Parts: sequence; structure tokens; C-alpha cells
Amino acid sequence: MTTSTDLDTYVDPDDLNNNTSDNPSFDAVLDARLSRRNILRGSVGTAAAAVFGSLGASALGLADEAAAAPREKLLSFNPVAKSLADSVVVPAGYTASVLYALGDPLTASTPAYKNDGTDGDFEHRAGDHHDGMEWFGLDANGKPSATSTTRGLLAVNHEATTDEKLSSFFIHANGGTSTLPRPAAEVEKELAIHGVAVVEVHRKSGKSGKGAKWEYLKDSAFNTRLTTLTEIEIAGPARGNPLLVTKYSPNGTKTRGTLNNCGTGKTPWGTFLTGEENWAGYFTRPKGDDAARDGNKSVTALARYGRAEGASSRHGWETGGSEDKFARWINAKTGTSADGRDDYRNEMNGMGYIVEIDAYDKRTLARKRTGLGRFAHESAAFGKVVPGQPVAVYQGDDSRNEYIYKWVSSARWDAADANPANRLATGDKYLDEGKLYVAKFNADGSGQWIELSVTSPALSGYAKYPFADQADVAVNTRLAGDAVGATKMDRPEWCSVNPANGEIYYSLTNNSNRRVEPSGSSQTAPDSANPRAYSDIKGASRVQTGNVNGHILRMKEGAAGSAATSFTWDVYLFGAEASAAPGPVNLSNLTGEQDFSSPDGLAFSPSTGICWIQTDDSAYTDVTNCMLLAGLPGQVGDGRKVTLNYPKADGGGLTVDTYVGKAPTPDKLKRFLVGPADCEITGLCETPDGKAMFVNIQHPGETTSQANVTNPAKYTSQWPANVGYGAGKRPRSATIVITKNDGGRIGS
Ligand code: FEO
Ligand code: CA
Ligand code: CA
Repeated sequence: MTTSTDLDTYVDPDDLNNNTSDNPSFDAVLDARLSRRNILRGSVGTAAAAVFGSLGASALGLADEAAAAPREKLLSFNPVAKSLADSVVVPAGYTASVLYALGDPLTASTPAYKNDGTDGDFEHRAGDHHDGMEWFGLDANGKPSATSTTRGLLAVNHEATTDEKLSSFFIHANGGTSTLPRPAAEVEKELAIHGVAVVEVHRKSGKSGKGAKWEYLKDSAFNTRLTTLTEIEIAGPARGNPLLVTKYSPNGTKTRGTLNNCGTGKTPWGTFLTGEENWAGYFTRPKGDDAARDGNKSVTALARYGRAEGASSRHGWETGGSEDKFARWINAKTGTSADGRDDYRNEMNGMGYIVEIDAYDKRTLARKRTGLGRFAHESAAFGKVVPGQPVAVYQGDDSRNEYIYKWVSSARWDAADANPANRLATGDKYLDEGKLYVAKFNADGSGQWIELSVTSPALSGYAKYPFADQADVAVNTRLAGDAVGATKMDRPEWCSVNPANGEIYYSLTNNSNRRVEPSGSSQTAPDSANPRAYSDIKGASRVQTGNVNGHILRMKEGAAGSAATSFTWDVYLFGAEASAAPGPVNLSNLTGEQDFSSPDGLAFSPSTGICWIQTDDSAYTDVTNCMLLAGLPGQVGDGRKVTLNYPKADGGGLTVDTYVGKAPTPDKLKRFLVGPADCEITGLCETPDGKAMFVNIQHPGETTSQANVTNPAKYTSQWPANVGYGAGKRPRSATIVITKNDGGRIGS
């Protein structure tokens, strides 16, 4: 997301960098020569990218369209052109309709949304910034169903809010208060628009799906909200650990709320996983707290997670009053206890997890699965489960130069658990005991999963941060990744597993700190798995540097499958503008019907096997709004090895080998949707028949100025009001539903 277009001063909350661990730093002065679009930093031309034959191109015997049904050709739709229109554009023959938008009532007695900033009671309304989303089917009797295609629950992340200078301005009548202190009433609204919603939806008409229309049910007994104040259990190795002791939970077993919920997962036992991403920015930490903590190791941990002393908070919620619900956002030692039971010095340790929610049961408390680690979580993607084998969960940490992780359960998969009597207890079985690994990528196309065990020499001997126990590793996962020398990645966003062959795909959205000649500890040089550093012109002259357009990495596990500790990898697609010549930037040879920047959401369809790619971009947005593409990928090793030669200022050079997947022909990758102005496209799930697809449109109009909040003519988007959805003209994040007019599967 972006809240400003000034690239000189703006820091995207999704684009943080707190990793100052000891990567190579050449402290070189950067060459500032920049004269045309899409040149590599320095003077590398197309010819400098030498191509050295193919990488293990031996076929795995897996057809590209293995999951496709007979009599149906996938990706037969006409691709959608790039667009700057303030509307959702889908191919001919498809219909996109708004289903569930910010502020929509979730109980029968909640009034309709006026959308003028006067609405309240957001605990009973749709939250803001719809993000990751999963489908949970219901049968005609309202019981969980894996096969229902006409009735179900959508579990929806409400990640954040459109803000400028503290205030979530579209939900306050006059734009709200941009100075501290923030009024309690404004803070209370903002506390409630974050979190998660469960909302019932059903297909209301359309025989055989033709002309199908969907609606959400505002009076469904299943509807519920989790907000920043909802009580949640701490589960896994950190439950009851001293690191989780707070005034709210002196025994360290509970916390309040889930926050900045971004990517999602759906467990093989039918529950919802939500990833807490940029939670740290909501906490403040006053100057003097380092000394108050006697400089103990918590100071190191707080800095590694972006809260050095003096850090201010995104919204100033801590200034709403003296009550606990406000004061808890001050992450400081203010009490006299030895363990923190009289203050909120440890409060931030309660955020940053994968949280498991039973979407069918709103009475049972959700559980934070601490074993899966604490970082800026995106999605949690399950490897294909095999009876008798451990369960693997793939995850990424979305900040610049952070890591890729895998959880491997101690319990072995029992097929009977696909339909358990107690879903969250099944989660206890697979998500509380196991091993956490971090990825290291090698220049020869191989890689290792390195276990993060407190007893390993790398961790037990780590001088920078003495880990006390495995709970400490679970809470301070980033430091553990540093200790074992994990590979710094270009912002790992969503991951998803290809149902055709089990390969794991990761969006690496972009990295403005990737530099051929890094300066300072926050920048890193290109490496094989993150091989590009270049410059791009946006609009008339603004220059963006680093891995501007991002890429999609994929991994194939070794022979041990989910429990493997080695893998091979290549890059499925490099994002690029089609006008960038095939070569060092447009390495995947993308055409105008396929080109994209900043892949973010990523989800394989269980029905069609299509790889759906969503963008959250601020680089190519002078040419097009964010988009959704459909891909039919091959497999790791189907492309070629490429060597990139980067000149350096001193006359030397940097040579980087990388592995590029087979370039997508026009029938293997097509743009399917372009969204309204100033939005990102995110969240994607389908009915099990693949005939209804739900997609989230996040933050249309987000670069609107707070000063213009009462002047609709100045909004950068008026979607979805401009398609007749709801009152008012303020833009609203929303879920859309896409159907094919002939009743066919989406993407055919
Ligand atoms: Fe919320 Fe990293 O996207
Ligand atoms: Ca450009
Ligand atoms: Ca994202």
C-alpha cells in the first residue's frame, strides 16, 4: 500500500527494513547516471546478459495444464488491457459485482452505511482494507461442507486503513485529527476497523450458475468480527513464557486483538489462518526506555523488529486516554515488577503471528500459533498433505531483506483429520509442536532449509542475542534467522503451492534496497535468488531503484518432501514493463498482455490449477492500475540459466547467476483484471467448482488528500459508489465476486 506518491520521503509501511545484520557492504558511492527507462544501475546493456543454456530442463512428466478439465481450455479469454480507469475491468464474457464493502452491516440491527464519516459501531460492520480471504462452505443445514458451491462463509482480513498523518480520514466526518492527542472516539473507531471478519454469502439466483448473482447476508448468525481488542489465546512454545507476561495476562497465555492482517491460509482441517504483518508500527516506544530496561536483551529484540526507542506510532492510539485499551500501545517499561505484570513492556510480543480461527465457530477463542514464528507474516501455504508424513507450512516475512520460512509438524498427517470433530484441537496437533526452518539459497540453483533450534551451535553461540529457550526463538525469529545466515530476500509476500506438482511459489514484490554497490547496512547486493538491481523511470522523470518490479520465485522440495532440508529453485516470472527490452530487466520476455509490476497476492486455484497473481504496485502505476493475472506455469528447471554482469564504479564487476523459468507464451500468462484507481488487488478464493471467484479491492483512492475528504470531486477514486454500490462517494475497500456469464469456470 502507499499513502503518498512522494518517493523521496515516503516509506511504505509494507516496505520496511530493520535487517541490519552482517551482510556484505561495499560502502561504495552509487553511480547516479540515469537517463532512460529501465536501465540497469550502471551501464549494463542487453548484450551484457549472457545466456548459458538451460538449467536441468529435463521434464518431470507434468503437463502444464494437468489440473484442467477436459472439454475446457484454460486461459481462452481475451486478455484485459492495462487501464487507468476508475473501475474493475474483466474480460468479455465475465461479470464482476461488488459483494461486501467497508462499513457494510453484519447484524440485522446495524443501520445501513451512510459513508459520510458519521457511521459508528464498526464492531458490527465490515472493517477496512480487505486483504487475504478464504472460503468455508456451508450445506443447506448450515453445517460445514467441503463441496457446497452456493453457500459459504468468507473469512476476510481487514488489514489497515487509508490514512494520512495519523488519521483514518475517510471514516471521520471531517477527516479526523492529524495531531496528538487523538480523540478517544476517533481511536475507538480505528481500533474496530482493523482485524478479521467472517461473513456469510450465498448465490441467490441463476440456474446452473448462468447469470449467477451473489449477496452477503447481514443477519447471518455466523457473521462475526475480530478486532484489535478481541481476546485471543497464545498457543505453541511461547504460551506462558515470560516474554508474553503483561498486565492483561500475568501468566502469559492470552493477549488482545489481531492486527494488520494480510495474507491468509486454509488448513487441511478446515480452519482459517491469518497473518499479522506490519503490527510493529502501531506501537510507540518512548525515549529513555532502553535505560529503563537496563539495556537488557529486549532492547536488541525491539530494535530488530523496528521499535528502537523514540519510535512513534502510525495512528497515535496510545494518546486516546489512560484506559488500558489505549495505554497498551506504549511499549515501555513503566512498572516496577521484575517480569512485566504491571505494564505493557512485553505487549508487542503478543503480535506478529499466524492466528488460527475457526470460521464456523465464533464462540471459541482464536489461537496465535507461536511455533510458526514471529515476523511480518503474509500467507501460510500448506504443502500437499500425505498420510503418514509431516505437514509443511510455507511462510514469508514481508520487509526488505527478510526471510522465507517453513514449519514442519511433529505429528504425521492422518487423513481422518480432514474432517475433525474439533478443528482448533486439530490445529493444536499440527501447529504447536514441530520445527521451524529458514531458507538459504545457493548460486547453483539449490538451497537449504536451516532448522532454527535453540540447541544448535549457531543459535546457542549467537553473541548478539542470547536465546533463552525455544520460545525465545519463536518470539524473536528474525534474530534466529540472522544467526544462521539466512538469505535476505526482496520482500517475501504471499506463497502458494501448485496442486499439480507440489512446488512452492513465492511473490517477492520488490526491494528498493537492492543495490549493485550497497551503501550502509540496510542495502544488499544482488544474489542468485534476488538477482536484479536496476532503475526505472515513472512518469516524466522520477527514478526508482533496486528490484523495482519484483519477481516470483519457486521451489521444489528434495526427496523427503514436506520434511526435506534441501530444495532446488528457479524464478517463475520476473516482473517488468513490456517496453523494457528482453534482457537484464525483462528476463521473462513479458509482452503487453502480460506485463506487471510488484506481484503480491498469489494463489493457485484448487479447481483449475491456475496460478492467480495479484499486484500491489507503485512503480508502473503511471501506466496502469493494479491487476490480476492468470498463469499456467511449468516447473522448476524448465527454463535457462542467465548470468548478469554488473559493472562497478571502480572498473570491477559483479557477476550473478540466476535461473529463469520458461518465458510465458501468450496462452500461458494473461492479464485477467485491472482494478479501480489507487487500489491494490489482493485476497482470492473460489467456490470448490471454480465458478465463483472472490477478490478483494483494497484502498481505492488511497492517495486522496485528507484535506479533500469532504470534496468528492477531489477523490482519486469514487469506487464502488461509481458503480452504484451504497451511499456516499467516499471510496471503500470491497470484496467483489466474479462469475462467467456462461456459467463456466473462472479463467476458462
Ligand atoms: Fe500487507 Fe506485505 O502486504
Ligand atoms: Ca516505469
Ligand atoms: Ca500483501
